[in-house]
Amino acid sequence: MIEPLQKHNAAQIAQLHIAGIPTGFISSLGKKFVAALYEAIAESPYGFGLVYEADGRVVGFVAFSTDIKGLYKSIIKKNVISFGFLLCGKLFSFQTIKKIFETLFYPSRSETQELPKAELLSIAVAETERGKGIAKTLIRQGLEECCSRKIEKVKVLVADFNKPANILYQKIGFKQISQIENHGIVSNVYVVSTDHFSKTY
Ligand SMILES: CC(C)(COP(=O)(O)OP(=O)(O)OC[C@H]1O[C@@H](n2cnc3c(N)ncnc32)[C@H](O)[C@@H]1OP(=O)(O)O)[C@@H](O)C(=O)NCCC(=O)NCCS
Repeated sequence: MIEPLQKHNAAQIAQLHIAGIPTGFISSLGKKFVAALYEAIAESPYGFGLVYEADGRVVGFVAFSTDIKGLYKSIIKKNVISFGFLLCGKLFSFQTIKKIFETLFYPSRSETQELPKAELLSIAVAETERGKGIAKTLIRQGLEECCSRKIEKVKVLVADFNKPANILYQKIGFKQISQIENHGIVSNVYVVSTDHFSKTY
Protein backbone atom coordinates (compact mmCIF):
# COMPACT_ATOMS: atom_id res chain seq x y z
CA MET A 1 0.00 0.00 0.00
CA ILE A 2 3.00 2.31 0.41
CA GLU A 3 4.70 3.38 -2.81
CA PRO A 4 7.38 5.93 -3.69
CA LEU A 5 6.05 9.36 -4.69
CA GLN A 6 6.02 9.57 -8.47
CA LYS A 7 5.20 12.32 -10.93
CA HIS A 8 1.82 10.79 -11.76
CA ASN A 9 0.73 11.04 -8.09
CA ALA A 10 1.42 14.78 -7.95
CA ALA A 11 -2.12 16.00 -8.68
CA GLN A 12 -3.68 13.82 -5.95
CA ILE A 13 -0.95 14.85 -3.52
CA ALA A 14 -1.56 18.52 -4.31
CA GLN A 15 -5.23 18.01 -3.48
CA LEU A 16 -4.38 16.37 -0.14
CA HIS A 17 -1.84 19.11 0.64
CA ILE A 18 -4.33 21.93 -0.04
CA ALA A 19 -7.18 20.19 1.83
CA GLY A 20 -4.94 19.34 4.82
CA ILE A 21 -2.97 22.59 5.05
CA PRO A 22 -5.44 25.12 3.58
CA THR A 23 -3.97 28.18 5.32
CA GLY A 24 -0.36 27.33 4.36
CA PHE A 25 1.59 29.61 2.03
CA ILE A 26 2.30 26.85 -0.51
CA SER A 27 -1.46 26.08 -0.72
CA SER A 28 -2.15 29.74 -1.48
CA LEU A 29 -0.10 29.42 -4.68
CA GLY A 30 -2.79 27.23 -6.27
CA LYS A 31 -3.34 23.59 -7.18
CA LYS A 32 -1.36 23.66 -10.45
CA PHE A 33 1.69 25.14 -8.72
CA VAL A 34 1.48 22.68 -5.79
CA ALA A 35 1.21 19.73 -8.21
CA ALA A 36 4.22 21.03 -10.20
CA LEU A 37 6.18 21.37 -6.96
CA TYR A 38 5.54 17.72 -6.00
CA GLU A 39 6.45 16.60 -9.53
CA ALA A 40 9.72 18.49 -9.11
CA ILE A 41 10.34 16.93 -5.66
CA ALA A 42 9.76 13.46 -7.14
CA GLU A 43 12.33 14.18 -9.85
CA SER A 44 14.98 15.94 -7.75
CA PRO A 45 18.00 13.95 -6.53
CA TYR A 46 17.48 15.79 -3.21
CA GLY A 47 13.84 14.85 -2.71
CA PHE A 48 11.75 11.75 -2.20
CA GLY A 49 8.35 10.89 -0.87
CA LEU A 50 5.98 8.07 -0.08
CA VAL A 51 2.29 7.71 -0.84
CA TYR A 52 -0.23 5.56 0.99
CA GLU A 53 -2.81 4.07 -1.34
CA ALA A 54 -6.16 2.52 -0.46
CA ASP A 55 -8.66 1.28 -3.08
CA GLY A 56 -6.53 2.70 -5.86
CA ARG A 57 -6.40 6.27 -4.54
CA VAL A 58 -3.78 8.16 -2.63
CA VAL A 59 -5.06 8.78 0.92
CA GLY A 60 -1.83 10.01 2.48
CA PHE A 61 1.65 11.15 1.59
CA VAL A 62 4.88 12.34 3.12
CA ALA A 63 7.63 14.30 1.35
CA PHE A 64 11.28 14.55 2.43
CA SER A 65 14.31 16.46 1.29
CA THR A 66 17.77 15.01 1.93
CA ASP A 67 19.28 18.51 1.50
CA ILE A 68 16.83 21.40 1.50
CA LYS A 69 19.22 23.91 -0.13
CA GLY A 70 20.14 21.39 -2.85
CA LEU A 71 16.44 20.70 -3.39
CA TYR A 72 15.55 24.35 -3.96
CA LYS A 73 18.54 24.83 -6.26
CA SER A 74 17.74 21.73 -8.34
CA ILE A 75 14.06 22.68 -8.59
CA ILE A 76 14.74 26.29 -9.59
CA LYS A 77 17.38 25.29 -12.15
CA LYS A 78 15.04 22.87 -13.87
CA ASN A 79 11.70 24.60 -13.50
CA VAL A 80 12.32 28.33 -13.41
CA ILE A 81 10.33 29.04 -16.58
CA SER A 82 7.35 26.76 -15.89
CA PHE A 83 7.12 27.90 -12.24
CA GLY A 84 7.38 31.54 -13.29
CA PHE A 85 4.56 30.95 -15.74
CA LEU A 86 2.38 29.27 -13.06
CA LEU A 87 3.08 32.07 -10.59
CA CYS A 88 2.97 35.06 -12.91
CA GLY A 89 -0.56 36.06 -11.89
CA LYS A 90 0.48 36.02 -8.22
CA LEU A 91 3.82 37.83 -8.39
CA PHE A 92 2.17 41.22 -8.44
CA SER A 93 1.59 40.92 -4.71
CA PHE A 94 4.50 42.21 -2.61
CA GLN A 95 3.48 39.83 0.20
CA THR A 96 3.77 36.81 -2.12
CA ILE A 97 7.20 37.85 -3.39
CA LYS A 98 8.35 38.41 0.21
CA LYS A 99 7.09 34.97 1.26
CA ILE A 100 8.76 33.26 -1.71
CA PHE A 101 12.07 34.88 -0.71
CA GLU A 102 11.56 33.92 2.95
CA THR A 103 10.96 30.33 1.84
CA LEU A 104 14.02 30.27 -0.42
CA PHE A 105 16.36 31.80 2.16
CA TYR A 106 15.08 29.84 5.13
CA PRO A 107 17.64 27.02 4.50
CA SER A 108 20.51 29.53 4.93
CA ARG A 109 18.93 30.77 8.17
CA SER A 110 18.68 27.19 9.43
CA GLU A 111 22.39 26.66 8.66
CA THR A 112 23.29 29.32 11.22
CA GLN A 113 21.34 27.30 13.82
CA GLU A 114 23.25 24.17 12.71
CA LEU A 115 20.09 22.30 11.88
CA PRO A 116 20.27 19.09 9.81
CA LYS A 117 20.15 19.54 6.04
CA ALA A 118 17.50 16.85 5.69
CA GLU A 119 13.90 17.81 6.29
CA LEU A 120 10.45 16.28 6.45
CA LEU A 121 8.77 18.77 4.12
CA SER A 122 5.10 17.92 4.38
CA ILE A 123 2.60 15.26 5.33
CA ALA A 124 -1.16 14.97 4.97
CA VAL A 125 -3.74 12.24 5.33
CA ALA A 126 -7.28 12.41 3.92
CA GLU A 127 -9.73 13.47 6.63
CA THR A 128 -11.73 10.22 6.40
CA GLU A 129 -8.58 8.12 6.93
CA ARG A 130 -7.08 9.93 9.92
CA GLY A 131 -6.50 8.24 13.28
CA LYS A 132 -5.57 4.90 11.67
CA GLY A 133 -1.81 5.21 12.04
CA ILE A 134 -1.19 6.13 8.38
CA ALA A 135 0.93 9.21 9.12
CA LYS A 136 3.03 7.31 11.67
CA THR A 137 3.66 4.48 9.19
CA LEU A 138 4.59 6.89 6.38
CA ILE A 139 7.02 8.87 8.55
CA ARG A 140 8.67 5.77 10.00
CA GLN A 141 9.20 4.35 6.52
CA GLY A 142 10.55 7.70 5.31
CA LEU A 143 13.01 7.83 8.21
CA GLU A 144 14.10 4.26 7.40
CA GLU A 145 14.84 5.46 3.87
CA CYS A 146 16.82 8.43 5.25
CA CYS A 147 18.79 6.06 7.48
CA SER A 148 19.62 3.80 4.54
CA ARG A 149 20.84 6.92 2.66
CA LYS A 150 23.23 7.58 5.58
CA ILE A 151 21.33 10.65 6.76
CA GLU A 152 21.76 10.81 10.53
CA LYS A 153 19.29 13.51 11.50
CA VAL A 154 16.11 14.97 10.04
CA LYS A 155 14.31 18.17 11.01
CA VAL A 156 10.72 19.22 10.66
CA LEU A 157 9.05 22.60 11.12
CA VAL A 158 5.46 22.72 12.22
CA ALA A 159 3.17 25.58 13.17
CA ASP A 160 2.80 25.76 16.94
CA PHE A 161 -0.99 25.92 16.56
CA ASN A 162 -1.12 22.60 14.65
CA LYS A 163 -1.62 20.37 17.70
CA PRO A 164 -2.28 17.02 15.87
CA ALA A 165 0.97 17.37 13.88
CA ASN A 166 2.99 18.42 16.96
CA ILE A 167 1.70 15.37 18.87
CA LEU A 168 2.40 13.13 15.87
CA TYR A 169 6.07 14.22 15.62
CA GLN A 170 6.60 13.96 19.38
CA LYS A 171 5.16 10.42 19.43
CA ILE A 172 7.54 9.37 16.65
CA GLY A 173 10.51 10.61 18.67
CA PHE A 174 11.21 14.08 17.26
CA LYS A 175 12.61 16.42 19.94
CA GLN A 176 11.82 20.14 19.87
CA ILE A 177 15.02 22.18 19.70
CA SER A 178 13.83 25.69 18.88
CA GLN A 179 11.10 27.93 17.56
CA ILE A 180 11.28 30.19 14.52
CA GLU A 181 8.97 32.67 12.88
CA ASN A 182 8.32 32.12 9.19
CA HIS A 183 5.69 34.01 7.20
CA GLY A 184 4.49 35.56 10.48
CA ILE A 185 3.70 32.15 11.99
CA VAL A 186 5.51 30.67 14.98
CA SER A 187 6.80 27.22 14.11
CA ASN A 188 8.35 24.58 16.33
CA VAL A 189 11.56 23.04 15.02
CA TYR A 190 11.98 19.34 15.79
CA VAL A 191 14.91 16.99 15.08
CA VAL A 192 15.03 13.19 15.12
CA SER A 193 17.94 10.76 14.81
CA THR A 194 17.36 8.17 12.14
CA ASP A 195 19.39 5.38 13.77
CA HIS A 196 16.29 4.16 15.64
CA PHE A 197 14.66 3.61 12.26
CA SER A 198 17.40 1.49 10.76
CA LYS A 199 15.91 -1.60 9.07
CA THR A 200 18.22 -3.76 11.16
CA TYR A 201 17.36 -2.03 14.45
C1 LIG B 1 -1.32 15.39 11.28
C2 LIG B 1 -1.88 14.24 10.41
C3 LIG B 1 -0.92 14.02 9.25
C4 LIG B 1 -1.96 12.97 11.28
O1 LIG B 1 -2.34 11.88 10.42
P1 LIG B 1 -2.99 10.54 11.01
O2 LIG B 1 -2.82 9.48 9.97
O3 LIG B 1 -4.33 10.80 11.51
O4 LIG B 1 -2.03 10.26 12.26
P2 LIG B 1 -1.81 8.84 12.95
O5 LIG B 1 -3.12 8.11 12.97
O6 LIG B 1 -0.64 8.15 12.36
O7 LIG B 1 -1.47 9.30 14.44
C5 LIG B 1 -0.15 9.26 14.95
C6 LIG B 1 -0.14 9.78 16.37
O8 LIG B 1 -0.45 11.17 16.40
C7 LIG B 1 -1.50 11.45 17.32
N1 LIG B 1 -2.54 12.27 16.68
C8 LIG B 1 -2.86 12.30 15.38
N2 LIG B 1 -3.91 13.14 15.19
C9 LIG B 1 -4.24 13.62 16.41
C10 LIG B 1 -5.23 14.53 16.89
N3 LIG B 1 -6.12 15.10 16.04
N4 LIG B 1 -5.27 14.83 18.20
C11 LIG B 1 -4.39 14.25 19.06
N5 LIG B 1 -3.42 13.37 18.67
C12 LIG B 1 -3.36 13.07 17.38
C13 LIG B 1 -2.13 10.12 17.70
O9 LIG B 1 -2.31 10.10 19.08
C14 LIG B 1 -1.19 9.07 17.21
O10 LIG B 1 -0.46 8.51 18.28
P3 LIG B 1 -0.80 7.01 18.81
O11 LIG B 1 -0.63 6.11 17.61
O12 LIG B 1 0.21 6.77 19.84
O13 LIG B 1 -2.20 7.07 19.28
C15 LIG B 1 -3.31 14.56 9.90
O14 LIG B 1 -4.11 15.03 10.98
C16 LIG B 1 -3.35 15.59 8.78
O15 LIG B 1 -3.27 15.25 7.59
N6 LIG B 1 -3.48 16.88 9.13
C17 LIG B 1 -3.51 17.94 8.14
C18 LIG B 1 -2.16 18.16 7.48
C19 LIG B 1 -1.11 18.64 8.47
O16 LIG B 1 -1.40 19.34 9.43
N7 LIG B 1 0.16 18.25 8.22
C20 LIG B 1 1.27 18.61 9.09
C21 LIG B 1 1.92 19.85 8.70
S1 LIG B 1 3.00 19.61 7.30
